Amino acid sequence: MKRILITGATSGIGKALCELYQSRGYEVIACGRNQQVLDEIARLENISTLSFDISDKQQVKQALAALPDLDMVILNAGSCEYIDDPKNFDGDLFARVITTNLIALGYCLQSVLPNIKRGGQLALMGSSASYLPFARAEAYGASKAGVAYLAKTLALDLIKDEIDVSLINPGFVKTPLTDKNDFAMPMLIGADQAAQYIFKGLKKGKKEIHFPAAFTLTLKFFALLPQSVWTFVSTRMINK
Ligand SMILES: NC(=O)c1ccc[n+]([C@@H]2O[C@H](COP(=O)([O-])OP(=O)(O)OC[C@H]3O[C@@H](n4cnc5c(N)ncnc54)[C@H](OP(=O)(O)O)[C@@H]3O)[C@@H](O)[C@H]2O)c1
Repeated sequence: MKRILITGATSGIGKALCELYQSRGYEVIACGRNQQVLDEIARLENISTLSFDISDKQQVKQALAALPDLDMVILNAGSCEYIDDPKNFDGDLFARVITTNLIALGYCLQSVLPNIKRGGQLALMGSSASYLPFARAEAYGASKAGVAYLAKTLALDLIKDEIDVSLINPGFVKTPLTDKNDFAMPMLIGADQAAQYIFKGLKKGKKEIHFPAAFTLTLKFFALLPQSVWTFVSTRMINK
């Protein structure tokens, strides 16, 4: 039986991944903070849970101190907050988002990497927001651009350890994180559908798993054009 560790397993994409991998015969170590949801998940066969705050170095170290060998790790936990008034830049918000989405990955990697088997897989949750600048996403977009660089660098450096590294770049997925958004989210998909894309992508060993393609390929196309084109399009979208 293969063993997978998933962070952010108490909600949205992470919870859907947890249930999908469990249903496909994996032993799942589900991580999160919400004890009530962790207790519910733990009732499923072959799921154990770990409760810790990924942004707290000591908690991460303690919770992940005695891990068994792992076939796969998906570092999915993350948060999103927007910079509503960039002229009065909220440095605390910026630090909070960068810490949860990027710095915390370093804490988790320190603990999980020694336990990933040769031939194993590591996946980091990025976002298609890192392809292009989006209004109010100074903190979120910067954190996910950092995740993208981190994943691509680890993919190079872990070749010798025979650990495959994938970057996951979803478009909009309906979860409690996006339920807070007050703007139109084109091509929004469900968390179960997102989990299917990720499962299939990881099975194929894809370096970058991005979905839905119609959305992510459009962003990738705009990213190839001069920045002035995207500035024109996005400011028109905002002013609509
Ligand atoms: N939804 C989208 O459209 C979308 C698009 C692109 C990328 N993503 C990325 O996908 C990942 C999952 O997002 P989601 O939409 O599924 O959001 P979600 O439903 O809000 O779930 C976020 C998960 O992260 C965990 N988490 C957050 N902060 C944590 C912390 N400090 N310590 C431990 N766990 C923490 C939460 O656990 P607790 O609730 O137990 O604290 C929860 O399980 C995030 O990295 C997000 O940036 C989402």
